[in-house]
Formats: sequence, C-alpha cells, structure tokens
Amino acid sequence: MALRPALLIAGFAALLGCGVLTAPPAARAACAGCHTEHFREQGTCTGCHRGNPTSTRANLAHAGLLSRGAAAWGMPGAAAVAEGDRLRDRLGCRRCHVTGGRGNAYAISLDRVAWRRSQAQLRDAILSPATFMPDFSLTPRQADALIAVLLRDGERDGRESRYLVRFRDGRSNRPNGFAVQCGPCHRALTPEGALGTSASGPNLTGLLSGHYPDPDGRAWDEARLASWLRNPRGERPTSAMRPVTLNSAEWHDVLSALGPPPSR
Ligand code: HEC
Ligand code: HEC
Ligand code: HEC
Ligand code: HEC
Repeated sequence: MALRPALLIAGFAALLGCGVLTAPPAARAACAGCHTEHFREQGTCTGCHRGNPTSTRANLAHAGLLSRGAAAWGMPGAAAVAEGDRLRDRLGCRRCHVTGGRGNAYAISLDRVAWRRSQAQLRDAILSPATFMPDFSLTPRQADALIAVLLRDGERDGRESRYLVRFRDGRSNRPNGFAVQCGPCHRALTPEGALGTSASGPNLTGLLSGHYPDPDGRAWDEARLASWLRNPRGERPTSAMRPVTLNSAEWHDVLSALGPPPSR
C-alpha cells in the first residue's frame, strides 16, 4: 500500500480529531489508521475483510481476517469471484459437496461450513485435501478465488454442519464390485461409503450424477460408461486405462456406486 495516501488519511484523522470535519463512525475504524482506504463506496473494511475494527494492534485487528481474492466475496463483478465460479464448475466440486444450494451431499456441505472456518483452514483444505478429495494442484490465488465463491454462497448463520448422507448398510458378504474392479486405481465416495485405495486414476465420485465435470461437454451415462469399460482407447486414444470386464453383479455395484447419494 502506498505510504502517501496513508499519511493523507492520518492528516484527515487529525482534522477529524479537532472537530473541523465530521465523518460516519465506520470511517474511523482502526484499520484505516494503518491502511489506505479503498472501495469506500462499496462497504466498510470489515464488511469485506472481517477482522476487528476496534483494535489498534495489528494482530488483534487481523483476527479472522479475509485477504486477497477471498475479500472479494461480496463484490459481484470482481475477477476473483468470476474465476472462483469457473473453477468450481470446471473441477466439479458439486460431485461431492453441496455449494450454492446444489450438489451431491457425499462430503460436508460447503454452504454450512464456509463462514465457520478461517481463510487459512479453507485454503489448507483445498490445497492439501483429504484422502477422498482430489488434489487439484491449485495455487493459493486460485484457492482464494474458490473461497470467495464459497463465502458468497455460504449460509452466514449456518448451523452446526453435519453430513446429509446416510450410507446404506453393506449387508451383503459379497465384496463390492467397484472396490474390487475399480478400487485398485480409483477412489469414490459412494452410497456404501468411501471405496478404493489409489489415486492413479481420477476420483470417480458422482460420475453418473450430473455433477461430474465433463470438459468436452459430454456427460457420463450408463451407455458411455459401458463402452468406456469395453475400450477406453476407443474414446481417448492415449488413455492409460485398460479395458475392464465385469460380471453383472459387479456392473450393478459400479452403477450404484457412481450415481448420486441416496436422498434423505
Ligand atoms: C496497527 C496497524 C494495523 C491495523 C490496526 C490493521 N492493520 Fe492490516 N496490516 C498491517 C500491516 C503492518 C500489514 C502487513 C503485515 C501483515 O500481514 O501483518 C497488514 C496486512 C493486512 C492485510 C493483508 C493480509 C495478507 O494476508 O496479505 C489486510 C487485508 C489487512 N491488513 C486488513 C486490515 C483490516 C481490515 C484492519 C481492521 C480490521 C486492519 N488491517 C488493521 C497493519 C495494521
Ligand atoms: C468492497 C470490499 C472491500 C472493502 C470495503 C475494502 N476492501 Fe480491502 N480489499 C478488497 C479486495 C477484493 C482486495 C484484494 C484485491 C485487490 O487487490 O483489489 C483487497 C485488498 C486489500 C489489501 C491488500 C492485501 C490483500 O489482502 O490483498 C489491504 C491491506 C486492504 N484491502 C485493506 C482494507 C482496509 C483497511 C479497508 C477499509 C478501509 C478495506 N480494505 C476495504 C476488498 C475490500
Ligand atoms: C471427490 C469428492 C470431492 C470433491 C470433488 C471435492 N471435495 Fe472437498 N472434500 C471432500 C472430502 C471427503 C472432504 C473432507 C471432509 C468430509 O469428509 O466431508 C472435503 C473437504 C473440503 C473442505 C473442508 C471442509 C471443512 O469441513 O472445513 C473444503 C473447503 C472443500 N472440501 C472444498 C472443495 C472445493 C472448493 C472443491 C472443488 C474445487 C472440492 N472440495 C471438491 C471431497 C471432495
Ligand atoms: C489398472 C488401473 C485402473 C482400473 C482397474 C480402472 N481404471 Fe478407470 N482409469 C484409470 C486411469 C489411469 C484413468 C485415466 C486415464 C485417462 O484419462 O484416459 C482412468 C479413467 C477412467 C474414467 C474416465 C474419467 C474421466 O474423468 O475422464 C472412467 C469413467 C473410469 N476410469 C472408470 C473406471 C471404472 C468404472 C473402473 C472399474 C470397473 C475402472 N475405471 C478401473 C485406471 C484404471
């Protein structure tokens, strides 16, 4: 931040102190004692950045701070928000999470947790993801853009977050066909729980649910999946996946594993 405007603001503050000018209380937030003001017509420092506007000590004032792209969560035209929207669609966050009111409730609802976490916690969850969340190899800047969108769409008074999925009881003694045939290379959150042991192939959660990303504009359905399994290179000549043959019980397991979660 430039030094000179900050000094100007300090000068103004001195004028205010003498009662020469009056200003709304928000303009006297301690934040402005150390920082140049910006976006003044669009809100208060803490309206966008959170933090504690009454403290003149940086570490206290910065409690719960939102910085960089994440601070744009309430600015509809901002570049970070547009990028966050793009990334959320392209990476298919909704195959596992509800966000912006839509998605498969296989993992925690991002609408419920966004405002309950610090920016550092959200960044960490996105950049060093849990085992059954894909590692998208994002930059911190991209993570902040996603965070802006999660905050924009989050329930600000979100109640205690909880899972919405009620996993089915695996009553059968037969091993699950997805776990056996796909699990050595793929992971997925499924109605039977988390299946698969390796990330050498993509995480297939919600492949047939309508929320799986389809970069070439072709959604996955049963027919496409069947033909893919017969011959992946028929569709993608350089595919590293080899054909897989399933018996009918296994095919049934695969279809039920890759659909949407059971509704409540
Ligand atoms: C006592 C001076 C002081 C006060 C008061 C203060 N800040 Fe800061 N702020 C700093 C300094 C110095 C830095 C740069 C070093 C750092 O990140 O701590 C900074 C950094 C920041 C950053 C960038 C953080 C990052 O991760 O890049 C933001 C955003 C910010 N402040 C907003 C605020 C807001 C909003 C308030 C009021 C709620 C506030 N500051 C109050 C001194 C202050
Ligand atoms: C309308 C929302 C909004 C308001 C109001 C706002 N900011 Fe920001 N601020 C942002 C955004 C978005 C960024 C990052 C993007 C950019 O650089 O334009 C940012 C960047 C900053 C930075 C640079 C570090 C960083 O996080 O990128 C500081 C410091 C900062 N703001 C402090 C303040 C202070 C102090 C106030 C109150 C006087 C304030 N801001 C008011 C949205 C806002
Ligand atoms: C294949 C499933 C899957 C996909 C896709 C996925 N996640 Fe996750 N995510 C998870 C799991 C599993 C967790 C761990 C928490 C849980 O079990 O619900 C998690 C946790 C998180 C958390 C931490 C939540 C908390 O409680 O603090 C955030 C934030 C998050 N994901 C964001 C995203 C974003 C943003 C995307 C899209 C870029 C995304 N996730 C895509 C499965 C997924
Ligand atoms: C020996 C490892 C291996 C096994 C077993 C395997 N796959 Fe794959 N699969 C891969 C790899 C590697 C890719 C990525 C290749 C590519 O992108 O062309 C892949 C890609 C896919 C894709 C494309 C996903 C996308 O986002 O493009 C689908 C669908 C798929 N596999 C389904 C399955 C199913 C269902 C099974 C079990 C019946 C299975 N695979 C078994 C390794 C495997």
